Amino acid sequence: TGLYCLIGDPVEKSLSPEIHNLSFKLNGIDGAYLALRVKPQDLGEALGGVRALGIKGINVTIPHKVEILKYLDELDEEAELLGAVNTVKNVDGKLKGYNTDGRGFVELLRSSGVELKGKRVLMLGAGGASRAIAISLGLEGVSEICVFNRTEEKSKALAEEISSKIQGVSAVYKLSDPKNYDLAINCTSVGMHPDVSRVPFDVELLSEHCIVADIVYKPLRTEFLARAEARGLKIVEGLGMLINQALLSEEIWTERDIEKEKVLEEFKKR
Ligand code: ATR
Repeated sequence: TGLYCLIGDPVEKSLSPEIHNLSFKLNGIDGAYLALRVKPQDLGEALGGVRALGIKGINVTIPHKVEILKYLDELDEEAELLGAVNTVKNVDGKLKGYNTDGRGFVELLRSSGVELKGKRVLMLGAGGASRAIAISLGLEGVSEICVFNRTEEKSKALAEEISSKIQGVSAVYKLSDPKNYDLAINCTSVGMHPDVSRVPFDVELLSEHCIVADIVYKPLRTEFLARAEARGLKIVEGLGMLINQALLSEEIWTERDIEKEKVLEEFKKR
């Protein structure tokens, strides 16, 4: 049996163990996944433990995503660009870091037939999730990213970072006409349980071809998505993104194609 785990602090509320153990079962993978609380000062020792115990893969969450870089032997391109890791693969004691936070979203869109090249994107929020998704979208060749955030200082900093790291993307922090965007993504916590009636942006202002996505998955159908759907816009649910980024980690660890749709469907039934 291959052992896999999440390390972070806190980890109690994480859905990762449920998602991975369900996927192991559905995809016929002989594995077991646990969430382990690791305090910041113990990170180095914990990774020594990963090597010593032959744990095959780990996910990394707050507060270790950046700190872990100094303990890894290798980084893939996207993790390097982001300077943050959420997935580590252990190959004979060599630890390689990856980041699937943004790619989970990008691949979900791609699998539902959405073309991203040349598209204009409205990012709501300028935190960690926003940054990961914006960088992945930049690598996919979107033409414009507008980072729109409550605190303008942070949107400005993120827009500047995107411009400096990715060529060919125009990254701005001043909103132009909302009708200009092809994709609007909520990367804030607005609308999350228990404040379920709040929305991060007025969907009535968006164009009728705009795709609307939300990283919030509790509730599954946020008010933002519900209003977009009522207007007839295509929507992308946060749970799909969460499960996709988890299963991309699994593909990295096992070098197998994982049936993502099946896991999402079964997970919703639980
Ligand atoms: P994550 O890692 O999930 O992105 P984060 O880095 O804490 O979390 O970022 C949270 C984002 O949600 C930020 O953009 C934050 O806006 P500020 O930069 O102004 O703090 C945004 N956010 C959180 N609560 C919000 C609220 N009530 N209204 C608007 N934006 C909010």
